[in-house]
Amino acid sequence: MNVLLLGGSPSAPSTTWRLLRLVGERLAALGHRTTALQVRELPAHALLRADLDDPVVAEAVAQVAAADAIVVGTPVYKASFSGVLKTFLDLLPQDGLAGKLVLPLATGGSQSHMLALDYALRPVLASLGPRHILPGIYATAAQLPWDPDSGAPAPVAAIAARIDAGVEQLAHELELRHGAVRRANGAGPAAAAGVPASAPAAVLAA
Ligand SMILES: Cc1cc2nc3c(=O)[nH]c(=O)nc-3n(C[C@H](O)[C@H](O)[C@H](O)COP(=O)(O)O)c2cc1C
Repeated sequence: MNVLLLGGSPSAPSTTWRLLRLVGERLAALGHRTTALQVRELPAHALLRADLDDPVVAEAVAQVAAADAIVVGTPVYKASFSGVLKTFLDLLPQDGLAGKLVLPLATGGSQSHMLALDYALRPVLASLGPRHILPGIYATAAQLPWDPDSGAPAPVAAIAARIDAGVEQLAHELELRHGAVRRANGAGPAAAAGVPASAPAAVLAA
């Protein structure tokens, strides 16, 4: 199935993107196709003017429409999600997440604002009509250090466990959806047996 990693940080490098990549890599390892979209790379002028005629913005909105699941990540800014992410979510149609699964992620400077995921981001995502919003994953930068040897992100044990649980739950929900789509298309289990669950490609931007 097709999973979009939606990054809502204006910063580069981004701690939030580090978390998104970890989730994306695990989903890709399970055979899901992942694509990446970082809002900060969209044309700012078009975003602020909500210019859906801009071809880059239109393509980004189409990426959302094409996804079966969205993993959306944001830094906590002023006890809420980032304005950068909001400019993009505001461009989506009212039912822009209809039928989709959503896994929300956030990173913050401390644990104090971890509930921003639930009181700020979740209601906005819910207003876009997704099929299901999974429990979110929250981490601080200190919980997502780099491994000095490999140079790869090395989350502390508690966050690694949350990532594993979140990915497992999303993969399970995607499999349920895949089965429903197969049945809706009239493909029985035998016909579907030779069909891979999803394309194995992973497109993960740095
Ligand atoms: C403008 C600004 C506001 C922030 N507000 C908060 C906040 O209210 N609560 C918090 O825990 N962290 C806050 N932080 C810290 C960031 O959420 C944290 O560093 C985050 O991991 C940054 O992610 P990023 O590198 O993906 O942008 C703020 C950072 C900035 C730059």
